[in-house]
Parts: sequence; structure tokens; C-alpha cells
Amino acid sequence: MTPQQFLQQKLQSRQYAGSYRKLQVQNNLIDFCSNDYLGFARSLELSEMINAELQNYPTILNGSTGSRLLAGNTIYAEDLEKLIAGFHDAQACLLFNSGYDANLGLLSSLPQRGDTVIHDELAHASIIDGIRLSHAKRHSFLHNNLHNLEQKLKAAHGNCYVVVESVYSMDGDFAPLTAIAQLVKQYNAVLIVDEAHALGVFNKGLVNQLQLQSAVFARIITFGKALGCHGAVVVGSNDLRQYLINFARSFIYTTAAPIHQLASIKMGYHLLAQSQLIIDELQIKIELYKSLMGDVPQSSKSSGAVQTLIIGGNQPTKHLASNLQQAGFDVRPILSPTVAEGTERLRICLHAHNSTEEITQLTNVIKINLHVK
Ligand SMILES: Cc1ncc(COP(=O)(O)O)c(C=O)c1O
Repeated sequence: MTPQQFLQQKLQSRQYAGSYRKLQVQNNLIDFCSNDYLGFARSLELSEMINAELQNYPTILNGSTGSRLLAGNTIYAEDLEKLIAGFHDAQACLLFNSGYDANLGLLSSLPQRGDTVIHDELAHASIIDGIRLSHAKRHSFLHNNLHNLEQKLKAAHGNCYVVVESVYSMDGDFAPLTAIAQLVKQYNAVLIVDEAHALGVFNKGLVNQLQLQSAVFARIITFGKALGCHGAVVVGSNDLRQYLINFARSFIYTTAAPIHQLASIKMGYHLLAQSQLIIDELQIKIELYKSLMGDVPQSSKSSGAVQTLIIGGNQPTKHLASNLQQAGFDVRPILSPTVAEGTERLRICLHAHNSTEEITQLTNVIKINLHVK
């Protein structure tokens, strides 16, 4: 088979399975799809704050001109890292260009041959890819199942790292972080928590909220979701920061983020610090959605911004998403192989800026389509 035939055959098999991925440009439908939970990405106030901040640094170049270890480092980036570490009540943090890069850099460099990494079976692709790049043994445990985690901890060799998400990206539910932290400590393992979908929705994230800072070895905090911009940090000790600077290849071998990205992150944090009302508004919208969907058995009941409606099968899930889009709502289907076969779903993201009417109308249309009275 030639490379060209190989491409065509792989794409055709995706088409037969109903899982062919296509890029779509942004639309004018009502947003129940984006990760802009607090509306920061569309915030005029934030945009003005970023522009004003950039005016203060007229001599910093547009482009960073190199990796952080060569020409690309600035006092601005280092001060930003101190600000973020302080916000999260940690010793230090290190910026990465994305959450994907952060997970890849941390998890490929930290566990060594002979070590064990145990992750929740629903962990994000960037967590799995990072572990795969390490030479450690990788095991998954059943989603949020402490008993199964304990079995894996008992069988672990070498240094053992347990990786979970505080809020799961495709299921919207939470890890039982306090219980996991206790178990991990009992087995002398260390805990790594990805807070991508918790920052902002739960203010500083669930690790801070549950006062687990000292029980968590490293946190991955990403800025492309509630913070409305782009990039990520790994939060932890000073030693961890220095280790990553020396060994995390996705940090070392890439051009540093430009000033505009760093200013966006800094101003995003400033805005977050004064956004309790918006965070409360989001919680009100989440509660409203949950109460309206209370009689729909397939619907999740998470207190986070990500809700799911399990449909099963790529075609039926796409069909329902298309009906909702035609009714004016931007709801996207999540298909296998992104999620396990049989659990294909709609992923409904709630935002502080979704109005009561929008949420009520969406739930009405869903119920009509599912024949729920
Ligand atoms: C749990 C989780 N971790 C990491 C990432 C990657 O973050 P980023 O989009 O900044 O690369 C995502 C988002 O896609 C995510 O959902």
C-alpha cells in the first residue's frame, strides 16, 4: 500500500465508523460548546486591560525570539510565574505554551524507567501521551474508583506517580481528591492533578479550594479555558521548577510565548481575582440546568461547567447535535474513539453569560428530541 493509499484507507474507515473529524469555523449559534466558562475570552474589559498592560512595555519585542533558555526569557515571564505561584499558594511554577505541552513535559520527564505511573482511565490525551513518552510503566485505574486505585498502588514499583484531573474534561465530574490524596500518601506515592477545567469555575481550582496544596506534588493549570486565553503552568516546588527547566523537552525545545500571550495571562489572573460575582453567576446557571434536566436520566448532574448527555452511537449523537444546532444552539457531539464506544455523548458547556432563557430553551429542545415529557 502506498502512503497515499494508506491515508485514503484510514480516512475511509473513519467515515464508515461515523467518526470522521472536520474543522468547523466559529458560528453565531448560542454558545453551549466553548470552554469560555466565565466569558473572559469575549470580555471587552479584559481586552482593554491587556492593551493597557502592553502599553506599559513598549520596548519588549512582539516575538519572544527564542526558547526561554536562549533569547526568549524575560523578567516579565519570571514575574508572572511568581504572581501565579503566589495566587495558587505554591512555591513556584513554570510556564508552558499550552496545557498539552505542560502535561507532555512533566509526565515524560519525571517518571523514570522502573517507576510506575497510575492514571484515571478517563485522563486527557495529553496526560496519556506524556506518560507514554516516559520509560515508566503505565497503568490506568477505573474512573474515580478508590478500591481499584489502591490495587494498582499495591502493585506499583519504583517511584509511583498518580495522575488525575480535578474536573474531567469529557465527563464533567470530579475526582474525589481528598480521599485520593490520603490513599496516595498511605502508599508513599505522589499526586499530580490537572486543573484545566477547575481554574476559574472554582476560583483558584479545587486543590486550593480543598486545601490540598501540600498533598499535591504538581498541578497543571491551563489558561485556554476559564481564563479565556492560552498557555499553562506546572505548579509545584522550586526544585520541580528547576527540574523541568533542565529536563522537560516541551519546555526546552520550543519558542517562548510572546509578550501578548503573557500579558493576557497576567490580566486574566487580575480579572479572575475580582470576578467572584461572575463565578457565582456561573454556579446559578449550572444549578438551573441541573434542575431543568433532573428528569432526563442520561443527563449528568455535575456542579462543574461541563455537563454530558449520553446518547450512545456516533450517528444518533451526531443527529441530536445537528437538531440542536438547527434550533440555534452550539452543542457538539463527542464521538468514539474520543470517548469509549457506547458512551458517545453531547458535551454541554455552561457559561456565566448563558441567559436563563437560553438554558431553558435548550433543555426544552433536548427533552422534545428525547421524548421526555
Ligand atoms: C484536562 C485537560 N488537560 C489538558 C488540556 C490541554 O490544554 P491546552 O488546550 O491548553 O493544550 C485539556 C484541554 O484540551 C484538558 O481538558
